[in-house]
Amino acid sequence: MKPLVIAIDGPSGAGKSTLGRMLARELGLLYADTGAMYRAVAIAVVAGNVSAHDEARVAEVARRARVELSGDPDHIRVTLDGRDVTAEIRTEQASRLASVISTIPEVRRELVRRQREMGRSGAGVVLDGRDIGTVVFPDAGVKFFVTAVPEERARRRYEQDHAKAPALTLADTLADINARDLRDSTRADSPLKIAEDAVVIDTTELPVEEVFARMLEVVRERQM
Ligand code: DC
Repeated sequence: MKPLVIAIDGPSGAGKSTLGRMLARELGLLYADTGAMYRAVAIAVVAGNVSAHDEARVAEVARRARVELSGDPDHIRVTLDGRDVTAEIRTEQASRLASVISTIPEVRRELVRRQREMGRSGAGVVLDGRDIGTVVFPDAGVKFFVTAVPEERARRRYEQDHAKAPALTLADTLADINARDLRDSTRADSPLKIAEDAVVIDTTELPVEEVFARMLEVVRERQM
């Protein structure tokens, strides 16, 4: 039987990774956070002292970077060339830089190739990202597009981050979310968009358990 692929796309802060992890755990599938792969390449770019705008060199960094995602869905460990970068990839700088370098077509080509390999292994995989249902796995068994209004996504991100970065304001977080949304959805190569056959879920006013139950229902219906 072909491994089950569940694609979860949507803008940052919509709840994709929380929901992806919950689905993977419930269904016994692998979980792949594809944003973490772009973030790890961004760290490699900084470590290599390469300008994020030097597309040829950034592409070379992406090809050479050994990025590994390991552990169970709730304790994902991300390593770059054997070095644990799990915490480092979550900084503001890494977020911004990942969004910038992910506009480079050759970077995307390299990471998409690796993501497709992940989809061929085991019982199946839940992948979350921006282009999973449109580009990486256009024939995924189930596709979700998870979204929420920017103000709510900013509020959630702010609640998560402000203890670590007390100088951060809600207005900064909202500005950052808006800038990333714009970049991710207007880039020429694989912009964030809703796949025609995706189930769209707006999580603005829904508790996570309710969204999860709805998603599980969709997966079970498709499997019948
Ligand atoms: O999901 P995230 O916030 O961790 O992703 C970080 C950046 O990586 C995001 O701004 C856009 C990019 N990305 C992408 O272009 N394609 C993906 N499949 C996943 C992430």
